[in-house]
Amino acid sequence: MSSPSLAHPLTSLRVCVAADAEAAAEVAATRILTLLREKPTAALGVATGSTPSPVYRALARSLQSEPLDLSRARAFALDEYVGIDPRAPQSYRSVIDAEVTEPLGFDRRLVAVPDGSSADLDAAASAYEAGIDAIGGVDLQILGIGHNGHIGFNEPGSPHDSPTRVVDLAEETREANARFFDGDIDRVPRQAMTQGIGTILKARSIVLLAFGSGKAEAVARALEGPIAEASPASALRRHADVTILLDKAAASSLS
Ligand code: GLP
Repeated sequence: MSSPSLAHPLTSLRVCVAADAEAAAEVAATRILTLLREKPTAALGVATGSTPSPVYRALARSLQSEPLDLSRARAFALDEYVGIDPRAPQSYRSVIDAEVTEPLGFDRRLVAVPDGSSADLDAAASAYEAGIDAIGGVDLQILGIGHNGHIGFNEPGSPHDSPTRVVDLAEETREANARFFDGDIDRVPRQAMTQGIGTILKARSIVLLAFGSGKAEAVARALEGPIAEASPASALRRHADVTILLDKAAASSLS
């Protein structure tokens, strides 16, 4: 069971410390299902990485016991590697297909992933941003957080009003993600196309999840450190509707 969401004393964010990652994932899944029941055409912002996986699994379990037609819902992925074959298992297109589109029954045509293999990356990034705006924006954005506080692939130093664009990945991000490339950092792309922090902040609601002691410092900096470009996730404190779902280890550095 999770504790009730509490307003964090130093921020406007709601913080919920769950017993474990599975319990936190259930809370996020319930938020998503409540939205999709009320608004079957809702737009979900979907993240990749290890953190949101239990959310997608919890959603799939719920849909088995209580079916809901998600074929009219939209999804926008946060980011994609630049230069990766979209059919490679490490591409975020493949991950979203395997974890979101297929198991949850989204219509593939309504699931967008930034086009990191475009011949004109800047145009593709602008088109992605315009696509989100054109459907009226994301209703609920799911986020993880990097060890260095990144959200999407917005590394420290990213402007808090940045749009979807191509970015260079920090070495520590490439090291962290080498686990998806057989541990070989040389295979991890050096660039990505990511929704900007400004793009993320346009979502009507945001749920950020973080699990494990390795994320504790990043979470504490985001919630209790200065709101600054050095701390991408601190930008979430500029938004009026953000929920942070943590396990105990990820909450362990909060004051
Ligand atoms: C990745 C993604 C982020 C993700 C973060 C943490 O590189 N681009 O969207 O939130 O890093 O990943 P994980 O959840 O695997 O720790």
